[in-house]
Amino acid sequence: MNDIIYYENTVTAEELCLLQAAVGFGQANIEQADKAIKNSLFCVSAMVNGKIAGMGRIIGDGARIFYLQDVFIAPDYQRMGIGTEIVTRMMKFIKNNSFEHAHTAVGLMAAKGKEDFYMKLGFRVRPNDHEGHGMIYTMNP
Ligand SMILES: CC(C)(COP(=O)(O)OP(=O)(O)OC[C@H]1O[C@@H](n2cnc3c(N)ncnc32)[C@H](O)[C@@H]1OP(=O)(O)O)[C@@H](O)C(=O)NCCC(=O)NCCS
Repeated sequence: MNDIIYYENTVTAEELCLLQAAVGFGQANIEQADKAIKNSLFCVSAMVNGKIAGMGRIIGDGARIFYLQDVFIAPDYQRMGIGTEIVTRMMKFIKNNSFEHAHTAVGLMAAKGKEDFYMKLGFRVRPNDHEGHGMIYTMNP
């Protein structure tokens, strides 16, 4: 196995589209992906042998609310710890950009069956005794 190299804020729209298709989440619009990356707070990607192997990005207000998005690891590179490393690096960015004595929320919408992956990284599932369901509205489904 070749070395896995992690990069910050270098992922391209083409790489996002490639990874999204590779994990079976459909074909992304390249112009939309480009704008999405530019409007992200932080992106992490993993390269193996010069090829894109995975990515994740953070959106949010940069202070109170952060969301993890587009955590995609290409099938050939799954279960090697790359997803864990990418989320860990994203959480470090959030920690470094949050206010020490102020509540900071980190949210995400887990894909079906992927809850365990995030639970291992410290996330809790909603709904629970105190919190309602996460909700979503899809425009142009
Ligand atoms: C889910 C995903 C991001 C995990 O990334 P990964 O690099 O394969 O995960 P890791 O190797 O860091 O796995 C760490 C642990 O998470 C858990 N895990 C990983 N993939 C999982 C899966 N598909 N289902 C359930 N648990 C999983 C396992 O406990 C794993 O530890 P183990 O390999 O020792 O059993 C990756 O499989 C992926 O991109 N899937 C397709 C796209 C997707 O669903 N993305 C999430 C969008 S919310």
